[in-house]
Amino acid sequence: MALVDINAKIPNNVDLAGDRRLQRALEQWQPKFIRWWEDLGPSAFKRNPVFLRTAIDVGRDGWANFDHVEMPDYRWGVFLAEPEPDRKIAFGDHKGTDVWQEVPGEYRSELQRLIVVQGDTEPASVEQQRHLSLTAPSLYDMRNLFQVNVEEGRHLWAMVYLLHRYFGRDGRDEADEMLERHSGDADNPRILGAFNEETPDWLSFYMFTYFTDRDGKYQLASLRESAFDPLSRTCDFMLKEEAHHMFVGTSGVTRVVQRTAELMNEHGTDDVHPHGGLNLDLLQKYINFHYSVSLDLFGAETSTNAANYFAAGLKGRFQEERRDDDHLLKTSYRDVPTVDGEGADSRIASREVTQLSALNETLRDDYIEDCRKGLDRWNRTLASAGIDFTFALPHSAFNREVGVFRDHKVSPDGRLLSNGQWNESVESWLPTADDRAHVGSLMKGVTEPGVMAGWVAPPAQGIHQKPVEYDYVKL
Ligand SMILES: [Fe+2]
Ligand SMILES: [Fe+2]
Repeated sequence: MALVDINAKIPNNVDLAGDRRLQRALEQWQPKFIRWWEDLGPSAFKRNPVFLRTAIDVGRDGWANFDHVEMPDYRWGVFLAEPEPDRKIAFGDHKGTDVWQEVPGEYRSELQRLIVVQGDTEPASVEQQRHLSLTAPSLYDMRNLFQVNVEEGRHLWAMVYLLHRYFGRDGRDEADEMLERHSGDADNPRILGAFNEETPDWLSFYMFTYFTDRDGKYQLASLRESAFDPLSRTCDFMLKEEAHHMFVGTSGVTRVVQRTAELMNEHGTDDVHPHGGLNLDLLQKYINFHYSVSLDLFGAETSTNAANYFAAGLKGRFQEERRDDDHLLKTSYRDVPTVDGEGADSRIASREVTQLSALNETLRDDYIEDCRKGLDRWNRTLASAGIDFTFALPHSAFNREVGVFRDHKVSPDGRLLSNGQWNESVESWLPTADDRAHVGSLMKGVTEPGVMAGWVAPPAQGIHQKPVEYDYVKL
């Protein structure tokens, strides 16, 4: 069992003290990280004590500590899950052989790329969310935002550790570049599209943590299968923290739906905007937007890169070992969507390809199924309030910019449209400038303990057995 060195300059369970060079290199990166945090992390309440969870161990019981901390003093550490003794590669060409503790030369650049792309999303989301504390609907929510932010910071640390430890000079350069690319920067943007969009308001934040952090869950879960054991163990531990981020999304949207339902019943109307609420059709548009943008993160339906990563053992499927097949996927097949025909005659169809070439689509399917659970929950909230309305996920071809549908206009119910038809209806499917302005107008910070903004219901319970009215952020 790896020893946890919690008092080191960089808390860790990877024996940093036993590798002076590495320790020095990371200690030189640390002030750059702090400077980045001060410049591009949360823009307000920077020095207020926040009731935060800090990872201090990786064991089954009690891996985290809860206390008020000023964020720049947060103890960002490097923690890998316990190694699984005698672990074997579960898929691909090296299936059945020992996992790797070092990076094989032939896969070095691919592994580095996978780690860089994952790592880049972590600070990106902190940058996207940096102004949200100013308009937090409650101290409880502000605390959750900061919790997500510091943990995304820790996830960056997790990837930077791998880069420094296993990729030499290139890795160190990549670690520096993580702090040089910035979300939405015209000259030096973050790598993935969705991470250059703004998160301008709290409805977007809840949707982002529901839909986009959930993409993170699926990416991390497939990297957890990696034959490169340090990456696998790193992702395993990150997933523990990630669960809370998705909780923020699921519960956040639930609370909005609940509040809207209350306002509808109280005032006997569908239009709760005059009463300071968010209408259900507006919520559906936000779902449409965040869901479709997140689907793009999985990449094209067929992908040689994804196939190569799988064959090499670098990245598996979601819950690879629970699947009952040959784990090679070269001679089994599945359908992927395609568009047949031209112009007015075109239609959405499918074609059969090897499972190996369709891994992005398979991961996307798993993600979609998971997304439905939230919608079911929100629909139950409406049903129990006696409201006759159901949220739906749009068709997976709707509003896509990656893959086979990128050059097609498709309605939420899956009809191919002309540009004219699309333009006629797009305002009823995606948030308009007016919708965003309405949401923006409701975003006023509430900083009295236990009090909620009028557009969102209080949470069912507080954090870590504290009451909802606890001073989660000390002002
Ligand atoms: Fe993360
Ligand atoms: Fe996250």
